[in-house]
Amino acid sequence: MITALAGAQLGDEGKGKIIDIMAAQADVVVRATGGNNAGHTVVSDGKTYKLHLVPSGILYKGTVCCIGPGCVVDPLSLIREMDEVCANGTSLDGLRIDYRAHIVMPYHLVIDELSELAKGAGDIGTTKKGIGPCYMDKAERVGIRFYDLIHPDIFAEKLRGMLENKKKYIVGMFGQKAYDDRASLLDYDTVYAAYTAAAEKLVKYAADTTVIVYEANKAGKNVLFEGAQGTLLDLDMGTYPYVTSSHPVTGGFCVSGGIGPTLIDRCIGIAKCYTTRVGKGPFPTELFDETGAYIREAGAEYGVTTGRARRCGWLDLVILRYAVRVNGLTGIALNKLDTLTGLKEIKACVGYDDGTKTVRDFPADIRELEKCRPVYKTFPGWTEDITKATKLSDLPAAAVDYLAFIQKEIGCKIILVGVGPDRTQSFPVDGVEA
Ligand code: GDP
Ligand code: IMO
Ligand code: MG
Repeated sequence: MITALAGAQLGDEGKGKIIDIMAAQADVVVRATGGNNAGHTVVSDGKTYKLHLVPSGILYKGTVCCIGPGCVVDPLSLIREMDEVCANGTSLDGLRIDYRAHIVMPYHLVIDELSELAKGAGDIGTTKKGIGPCYMDKAERVGIRFYDLIHPDIFAEKLRGMLENKKKYIVGMFGQKAYDDRASLLDYDTVYAAYTAAAEKLVKYAADTTVIVYEANKAGKNVLFEGAQGTLLDLDMGTYPYVTSSHPVTGGFCVSGGIGPTLIDRCIGIAKCYTTRVGKGPFPTELFDETGAYIREAGAEYGVTTGRARRCGWLDLVILRYAVRVNGLTGIALNKLDTLTGLKEIKACVGYDDGTKTVRDFPADIRELEKCRPVYKTFPGWTEDITKATKLSDLPAAAVDYLAFIQKEIGCKIILVGVGPDRTQSFPVDGVEA
């Protein structure tokens, strides 16, 4: 069986936890898009693992964990992450890196930083990991791929040409001083030495991961495509231009993971019971008051990758309905119900008022979205500690009613409820009835 997991909101929905739980049944786990802009948290046996590019299935011995064709790999950062994973006593034997994955180079980091600076107040709020500039080179067909990196002759030639081109680009776009201040990061010998040393460490993980996935599926094994980012950060489906440069929707697994759409058996969306966003961009249900601050602290809403405080707001069912539609979701996992405990009232946005009508479908353009004001339904809160709940009947009636309403509004079955960060603090459900 092939299962696709996708973030149903704006990233940080608790994908790491769900991937780790579902990976218990998987033979192969695949990351197919994005890079170390992702930050996935897995909490197990009191230990917290923060993963960026290493797939969240890595904690299971014997599971093959693929960094797929559509990923972008910063090899220096990946090695640091691998060292941390190893220091925790976890084996990396199952790791595989696809030959086709593009390499994040120092000039991508420099360009990401300088582009954001140049945009001033109009910046995107990227993670500054060089993700966008790396995907730009890929689309321009000048990128350096993992295959190139592990072949020193190919790498040397490509690197020399790219450093010359990027120097011209940086000087032209941002000025001579901007280049001079960062020239030491872009020195040929330094970059060549650091990257070939990284390549020597990574070459043993090189593989064609599309073959691994295909053969595993043919042999009746379980494959789990783990999501990164979220639906509204998708380059096409998201709140453009406030998006990432890859395709976190389930369709992205086909294009960027190398499997045909007919092979995916189920598509599971992951959401939390409220909304967060890190970085700039529209956010209709954002809360600027003490309730937003309460959610931020109760939910520990600080970025795993950048440490930035996440913007917090009520659950937006227009977004979830959209995620159900564009990802073809067959089920949804709802995390962080426990974070809402203690709030007197809980709100969920059921539609937007654009000044003339009620909008139920997420607008295609952010200028339309900016006209929208959320229309809320209000629910009574609960005060009981739910962090030890293991079934629906352990939850207060108010919490069950809230879940049942969500399910009905989005037209997608809830299949899992999260009540805490630990691996054990989630339980499966077969839909929720009030
Ligand atoms: P990801 O990027 O989707 O993997 O999510 P992050 O790891 O960036 O952020 C999710 C945060 O919520 C992490 O700190 C998780 O440990 C935590 N988390 C996940 N599920 C739950 C839950 O059900 N309840 C609570 N309180 N925290 C959770
Ligand atoms: P996980 O997998 C939340 C956001 C950035 C920024 C925008 C573009 O942990 O859910 P980029 O560096 O990708 O060019 O930044 O996308 N972003 C994320 N937000 N979670 C993520 O990943 C994100 N990855 C990128 O904050 O707004
Ligand atoms: Mg995250």
